[in-house]
Amino acid sequence: MKFNVLTLFPTMLDGPMTTSILGKAREKGLFQLDVHNLRDWAEGRHLVTDDTPYGGGDGMVMKVEPVARALADLRQRSPGTRVLLMSPQGQPFRQAEARRLSQAESLTFVCGRYEGFDERIRSLVDEELSLGDFVLTGGELAAMAMIDAIARLLPGVLGSASSAETDSHSDGLLEYPQYTRPADFNGQKVPEILLSGNHQKIAEWRRREQLRRTLLRRPDLLQAIPLRDWDLCVLEELRAAESEKAD
Ligand SMILES: C[S@@+](CC[C@H](N)C(=O)[O-])C[C@H]1O[C@@H](n2cnc3c(N)ncnc32)[C@H](O)[C@@H]1O
Repeated sequence: MKFNVLTLFPTMLDGPMTTSILGKAREKGLFQLDVHNLRDWAEGRHLVTDDTPYGGGDGMVMKVEPVARALADLRQRSPGTRVLLMSPQGQPFRQAEARRLSQAESLTFVCGRYEGFDERIRSLVDEELSLGDFVLTGGELAAMAMIDAIARLLPGVLGSASSAETDSHSDGLLEYPQYTRPADFNGQKVPEILLSGNHQKIAEWRRREQLRRTLLRRPDLLQAIPLRDWDLCVLEELRAAESEKAD
């Protein structure tokens, strides 16, 4: 997989992409990350990439021509690359997007700054993605978060492929509670079942806890996934127990 990032602040990507799991994966060549300075496609003595908005208003708007030139070049260098515009107006980036995009051969992230993009930039990209319903000062943090979520799904990046499979959101539910030593911390004990060595019972307990946690914290997620009969029975029990507690 090859990631391109188009930004006015290339050094912002230095730390996270050279550290820990992603840094090692990059060193091993499991993915390639090329960061491009948008100014390399600006023209004139001042290499201008932004201008005042037509119609008036605060702030500056990113100009279309440098982005158009940059993307034409990057599409040539990475044929078939999927171009993603970082924007709070885009579709929300979720685990499903990470999974879908991890199948691509190349992704190009376009990072905005200032008041955002000249509207015509939207016609140059394949999709517009948002990190969430809040506004960042620039698209770099959004691009880094998305690259992190996508790269950890690439073969060989995580020590074990199954660790990504049990993460929150992988099967549409939140992850079950996890514990490590000590078995008793100031009277807070690790659930007995996890010490039992009975793998089938542990798997059942974990699924039940995933359902409980999702029901309590993110009930909206339960609407979006197919649930087995066993899950539905457990949810019914959990709902009944919760309403009993509330009475
Ligand atoms: C200050 S924001 C501009 C917001 C713009 N005026 C608007 O209301 O849509 C500057 C840039 O940060 C990036 N950005 C801000 N919030 C983001 C989010 N939630 N997800 C992805 N990118 C974001 C985008 O690239 C955006 O063009």
